[in-house]
Amino acid sequence: MDLDLSYPAVSDLRRKARRRIPHFAFEYLDSSTGAELQFARNRDALDAVHFMPDILRGTIDPDFTTTFMGQDFSRPFGIAPVGMSGLMWPGAERMLASHAFEQRIPYSISTVATRLPEEIGPVAGDMGWFQLYCPADPEIRRDMLKRAKTSGFTKLILTVDVPDDSRRERQRRAKLTLPPKITPRVVWEVLTHPEWSLRTLALGAPRIVLPESYVDNTDPRSSLAHAGHIIRGEPDWDTLKTLREEWQGDLIVKGVMCPDAAKRLVSEGVDCIWVSNHSARQFEPGPACITQLPKVRAAVGPDYPLIFDSGVASGMDILRALALGADFVMLGRAWHYAVAALGEKGPAHLTHILTDDMRLNMAQMGTHTLADLPGRLLEGV
Ligand SMILES: Cc1cc2nc3c(=O)[nH]c(=O)nc-3n(C[C@H](O)[C@H](O)[C@H](O)COP(=O)(O)O)c2cc1C
Repeated sequence: MDLDLSYPAVSDLRRKARRRIPHFAFEYLDSSTGAELQFARNRDALDAVHFMPDILRGTIDPDFTTTFMGQDFSRPFGIAPVGMSGLMWPGAERMLASHAFEQRIPYSISTVATRLPEEIGPVAGDMGWFQLYCPADPEIRRDMLKRAKTSGFTKLILTVDVPDDSRRERQRRAKLTLPPKITPRVVWEVLTHPEWSLRTLALGAPRIVLPESYVDNTDPRSSLAHAGHIIRGEPDWDTLKTLREEWQGDLIVKGVMCPDAAKRLVSEGVDCIWVSNHSARQFEPGPACITQLPKVRAAVGPDYPLIFDSGVASGMDILRALALGADFVMLGRAWHYAVAALGEKGPAHLTHILTDDMRLNMAQMGTHTLADLPGRLLEGV
């Protein structure tokens, strides 16, 4: 099958994923919070970033290799941390980490992944970044950092835009609970998605194995609730200072929208800011993420490392974010639509879609390098 003809866009992967996995897994992946208006706002704002095409610019064969925070990557995009990846497709963490290593793009493992850092670190090699939901207990926090480091993760991502749960109503309607409740609907979903179910049976039910490893309890129900509680550390600026002292490698703070907060993070010795609104999963009335990016860039200065995510669904979206001040762009859902739709073949196909879309749009704009992109931006964006 020619994947480029069957699944030319991320939206095709999403459609296929929706059919191939149980409803509760798809809704967990796809949902935002509230009436999902911020999701639409993210999309509309990205679509409103326009460029003037150029003509007669000869051969355009852009070099996408990018040096970012002292590391060389083949492309300026990578894989954002997604909790419970293995719920969307059994074995997803391994597939994505191994693709990242082969392609030399970053893979971020979530604190609430379904695989341990000790298993995934060696697969991701030097492309592995570790995302932390900061535990309240300092001993657990320090131990997680130690385990991440000894597993080979080179950068630490502290996520700060999840001070508490969000309602994420679609997810609730789909009856996704931890631990899962066996309702007739859940049984039906499992029976009608046999490939997902058999693979899940083979690899074991998805669990948040890292937090659970700190729970000394044989009752799986209370152990899960306790595991969730462990990572709800409600970090503040003092926690950040401590973390800065405890982690000697690069420290990235993820989930920043506000230019003043960004300035303060820089002065606290944070190495990189990740501009994100968690792709509308946490707080509906906030601004579109892409509109904040140039403001954060202006606040931190031209040379400070900035990552962008939230709503990126094509190579063109990556170019938009790079033009507006990002050095690097991450995607969360798209990689999971890809693995849920196509299994092992998914990540490579998504990398192809994104790279080709970047290249072809750069040809239309007559831009030979990524640095030329801001010059083609139309005013008023
Ligand atoms: C299903 C799902 C789970 C997520 N889990 C985490 C997580 O555990 N830690 C984290 O920092 N961000 C998490 N995120 C947010 C992503 O890292 C990222 O910010 C977001 O998905 C980017 O937007 P996109 O999905 O539109 O590409 C999650 C996102 C999704 C869709």
